[in-house]
Amino acid sequence: MELFDVIIIGGGPGGYNAAERAAQAGLKTLLFEKRALGGVCLNEGCIPSKALLNSAKTYEHALHAAAYGVTCTGVSIDQKAVIARKAKVVRTLVAGVKAKMKHAGVTVVMEEAVIEGRTDEGFRVTAGGNTYAGKNLIIATGSSNVIPPLPGIKENLGGFVLTNREILELKEIPEKLVVIGGGVIGLEMACYYNAVGANVTVVEMLDHIAGPTDREISTMLQKDLEKKGITFLLGHKVQSVEEAAVVAEAPDGEIKKIPADKVLLSIGRRANCAGIGLENIGVEFGRGIPTDPMGRTNVPGVYAVGDVNGHHMLAHTAYREGEVAVSTILGREDNMRYHANPSVIYTQPEIASVGMTEEECREKSIDYEAAKLSMRYSGRFVAENDRADGLCKVIIDRESRKILGVHLIGTYSGEIIWGAAEMIETGLRVEDARQIIFPHPTVSEIIREVLWEFEV
Ligand code: NAI
Repeated sequence: MELFDVIIIGGGPGGYNAAERAAQAGLKTLLFEKRALGGVCLNEGCIPSKALLNSAKTYEHALHAAAYGVTCTGVSIDQKAVIARKAKVVRTLVAGVKAKMKHAGVTVVMEEAVIEGRTDEGFRVTAGGNTYAGKNLIIATGSSNVIPPLPGIKENLGGFVLTNREILELKEIPEKLVVIGGGVIGLEMACYYNAVGANVTVVEMLDHIAGPTDREISTMLQKDLEKKGITFLLGHKVQSVEEAAVVAEAPDGEIKKIPADKVLLSIGRRANCAGIGLENIGVEFGRGIPTDPMGRTNVPGVYAVGDVNGHHMLAHTAYREGEVAVSTILGREDNMRYHANPSVIYTQPEIASVGMTEEECREKSIDYEAAKLSMRYSGRFVAENDRADGLCKVIIDRESRKILGVHLIGTYSGEIIWGAAEMIETGLRVEDARQIIFPHPTVSEIIREVLWEFEV
């Protein structure tokens, strides 16, 4: 039985990044992956959806090119070509992860792993008929779609009812797409399929879209997407899926049948805790595996990173959690801080946020001040956007004047937000952040402009 310093179960962003960091630090590292390296993010999540959304963006640019003095005729979208290009992007990046693992010296075993127990040597894991031992274990098994027990869903899954996996493979654009759940996946896919010609309806249980996003920003996004032709049914509870329709109850109790050629189910994800053998070594879990800020579970030597710990189901959070777990294994002081964890929704327009929203500040009785400006105060934004608008909002603590939150809607928001995260992470006050030199002309300068909206 070969002994490793670290065994990692799950080759998504949490797992493969942790594997690379562990091997770079000289630890003998083994990574198990049962499906495809890169996990959901690379194969059927973040990356393929961005490939599709970029095709939609290119298509929309071509359609509206005349406004910018460019003549395009006969513009059309070829869904099969879009999907083929997406597959190529995924292949390239999966190969990249494989190469990274090799370069770092990580042993990769493409098998489903199960924790069998513990010996004096370490944790015993079997996979593909072989047994391995590890002094430390990092669980990075990710999450799966929530499939509600509603009539018509389970029996139609993969056919009429799609998840993020199948929606990224559709060779034909459905005439009518009904999206259940107006969260991140639902909005990104609604945006793509609307742009390429489908008639899209989003059915959302809450009275707003985009979950915990700053309400002013999510309302702007909704209005923008409505203008583009997406229908939102808010406060609607889905009851069942029938042949060619989704049945939902409106807030006034009316039962509506919403016609559909395809249905996307995107009502959230749940940590993959079952079937890994956690109970064989006494790791506690519920809806996720609880961890402390150093990534440790209740069992010494066992760590949980990424979606499986249920903190924040975001790939970039998983990267960092993996690094914290490896630091802890190496005896280096490190810990997870979630208050400056950015999030992006890659709709058109894109939205990006970091830190506290106004709603959160009010809920926690934090005395805050907010300032905001239209993105049209940015020279580059105006130069590149004929009709679109956007917003930048900065929230500060009234007394300490420290930056608490930054919220953006508009082009490049996702590329800009890390700078704002840095301001929050390092505890900058308005006065400190004003001293930062922003490149001109960039859309990022809008943050600088907003900082000067606060009292001098
Ligand atoms: P989500 O949690 O973002 O949104 C689910 C939405 O479905 C919520 O608004 C919820 O109120 C609604 N909902 C729940 N039950 C419902 C029902 N029965 N009827 C109607 N609406 C219902 O989950 P989503 O979009 O499935 O994404 C899963 C995970 O993947 C998220 O944790 C997200 O962070 C991650 N992700 C992140 C991306 C990004 O960072 N850009 C892209 C895609 C996914």
